[in-house]
Amino acid sequence: MNIILLGPPGAGKGTQAGFLVAERGMVQLSTGDMLRAAKTSGTEMGKKVAAVMDRGELVTDEIVIGLIEEQLAGGEGSGSGFIFDGFPRTLAQADALAVLLEKVGQKLDTVIEMRVDDSALVKRITGRFTCGGCGTGYHEEFKKPVKDGVCDKCGGSDFKKRADDNEESLKTRLMAYYKETSPLIGYYYAKDQLQSIDGLGTMEAVASDITKALSKVS
Ligand code: AP5
Repeated sequence: MNIILLGPPGAGKGTQAGFLVAERGMVQLSTGDMLRAAKTSGTEMGKKVAAVMDRGELVTDEIVIGLIEEQLAGGEGSGSGFIFDGFPRTLAQADALAVLLEKVGQKLDTVIEMRVDDSALVKRITGRFTCGGCGTGYHEEFKKPVKDGVCDKCGGSDFKKRADDNEESLKTRLMAYYKETSPLIGYYYAKDQLQSIDGLGTMEAVASDITKALSKVS
């Protein structure tokens, strides 16, 4: 099953994708993670996108479509399906995804829109941090490590915040979402592929709503 998790910054796309990877063995394709990896490894592309990402603006369609094309052509783990997390983000990317999936003989099964209001998004984004060692995600209020200052997974104590997780960049990211990405809600509704869920509940409640949504298409 191939699905898109669609929602504004902080809606919980990455969190829920992580659950689906663990429970169903699906493959998470997060363009945000791919771009951050390119930034960290200092590739030419990484250098090109770093400032754009830190400001909270969208990277060009050409770059992100190229990243997804590479992954789909690799076909890795496609047996259990792909979770597109943070992609597509523009109508051009959505059109490109349809073409790329067709090329590899696959289809999109459903798009899950996660609805969360702006004040909750600000709280989620500004409280987020990750373990620098293993990348496990946490939140100052909603998902603290069991032992303060120590990663539950790897025992590391080097925690990091994303460069774009500040109020200024978040405003730009939200604006990009409403201007460029939210038209995809109508786009997928018209294709009869959209399911909308309440993303404001607990992580477990949201996961349960996603399970229900997936059962309608499997
Ligand atoms: P990207 O990495 O995709 O960031 P984003 O869309 O802004 O999404 P986030 O990762 O911030 O949020 P999320 O929805 O995954 O929430 P999470 O689960 O972490 O993109 C970053 C940048 O890369 C973009 O700005 C752009 O520059 C570029 N880019 C990426 N893709 C692109 C594309 N296709 N085209 C162009 N440019 C692109 O949750 C957030 C926090 O809330 C966490 O701390 C979590 O623990 C907590 N939380 C999660 N769920 C809940 C819950 N139910 N209750 C309470 N807390 C919760």
